[in-house]
Amino acid sequence: MQKVGKMMKVFVTRRIPPEGMQILSSAGVCEMSVWDSDEPVPKTELLKGVQGAAGILCLLSDKIDAEVLNAAGPNLKVISTLSVGFDHLALDEIKKRGIRVGYTPDVLTDATAELTVALLLATARRLPEGVEEVKNGGWSTWKPLWLCGYGLSGSTVGIIGLGRIGMAIAQRLMPFGVKRLLYTGRTAKPHAAEVNGEFVRITTMHMCIFFAMSVIYFRGAVVNQEDLYEALKNGQIAAAGLDVTTPEPLPTNHPLLTLKNCVVLPHIGSATYSTRGIMSSLAARNLLAGLQGTDMPSELKV
Ligand code: DGY
Repeated sequence: MQKVGKMMKVFVTRRIPPEGMQILSSAGVCEMSVWDSDEPVPKTELLKGVQGAAGILCLLSDKIDAEVLNAAGPNLKVISTLSVGFDHLALDEIKKRGIRVGYTPDVLTDATAELTVALLLATARRLPEGVEEVKNGGWSTWKPLWLCGYGLSGSTVGIIGLGRIGMAIAQRLMPFGVKRLLYTGRTAKPHAAEVNGEFVRITTMHMCIFFAMSVIYFRGAVVNQEDLYEALKNGQIAAAGLDVTTPEPLPTNHPLLTLKNCVVLPHIGSATYSTRGIMSSLAARNLLAGLQGTDMPSELKV
């Protein structure tokens, strides 16, 4: 474990992009302990590391539950997660203890929307299968129907949740000549008009998506993976691309990985150098604000 700085104790649960570390070390208000690794901190080390901490800077892979909060003790003022997602935080326990929470919304919208479009095209045009065929000698000659997929031009695209990221995806899809853009969510959105979005109702939470093709960029737990497997296998869904799964990592023997028409990525929606750098600095600024009792750039109201 690497120790730097002084004053209020902060535990950083992973090696993070330097932008955030620079902000924290130059602020001169905290003494940092960093789990200086690319791999997650083991629970025992997490419990040790947070002892007496006033702040924790964590990742979405760190479960911050009652045990961790108890180990940290009464000094803990702020938890800053380097993620927009907060499923890993026991918010009811955090609230009981009056701890503030920072997170990183908005800054990863573009990167995530870009990745979704990339995944949509890779899935629809069967790029991973094509790459594989080139490598394994399956490319014998040009064949009229070999590796045919679906184009975006003239297609109908469905988006579940036309929030920030959904909207950014829709905007990026328009130039491809998509004919109809359907979206669903709790209510119709006025901003859907900007992308000619048509509202459709889907009421079940654990939904299986019966669009001709689907790309899943939202939390893995929203998707019933067993139903998705069946629908892909029996051809009800032509293909699916996933960037988040349940669990993560997806076991290498998972049935979805046996399907040629399922492209699974390892949760890299926000993985551009610049986005991760911005997330890191935002998480650091949230943490400092929590330590100093000032307004956070992005506070999650718990
Ligand atoms: C998040 O931040 O929650 C994304 O899933 C990964 O960047």
